[in-house]
Amino acid sequence: MSTATHAVYGLLDYVRDVGALLDHKPALPRIVREVSKLTKSLCASDRWLEERHRVGSHDHYMRHLLHKDPKNRFVILSLVWMPGQATPIHDHACWGAMGLLENSLQEVCYDRLDDGFDPSRAELVQSREAQVGRGTVAYLLPPYEEIHRIGNNTDKPTISLHIYGRELDEINVFDQATGKVSPMRIKYYSGECGRQDFVI
Ligand SMILES: [Fe+2]
Repeated sequence: MSTATHAVYGLLDYVRDVGALLDHKPALPRIVREVSKLTKSLCASDRWLEERHRVGSHDHYMRHLLHKDPKNRFVILSLVWMPGQATPIHDHACWGAMGLLENSLQEVCYDRLDDGFDPSRAELVQSREAQVGRGTVAYLLPPYEEIHRIGNNTDKPTISLHIYGRELDEINVFDQATGKVSPMRIKYYSGECGRQDFVI
């Protein structure tokens, strides 16, 4: 009987492969397509994720920074969601992908109907809604497919893996009822970043 174990595709492999892809400066749709495939491979196992990056909080969902590209082309995070924790509707202004490492998340996506001329106002309509679970990857493809809200609508903790095509430190939050758009700073929680005020 063989006792050999197969190597798990892990974070270092993912960082290497995403970096190699971006070295070729591909167009956005190709970035999203290829990074989604790599994200699916990474999320096939959660054995590579360290315990300190699985820590949640009952106060808010947790954002752990796992890797920041030295050339500032992308960041990778794990997010830990207790039951009921969710984002408001927000945008990203960059490409991105999300895979699930434990349990599932609800994603609700929105289309913007106005011309975007007034940065303080937006008219949104819901475009689709999905339960994103293990083996599924959700993506962000600006300028039309990058406004959503996500949340844990289950009764168990959830861990998700996120990659964004920029340092995601400021986003816009949308109030669908009033049409108001509010810029918002967002921060990380992780040991190496120190404890920071949590905004979103
Ligand atoms: Fe998001």
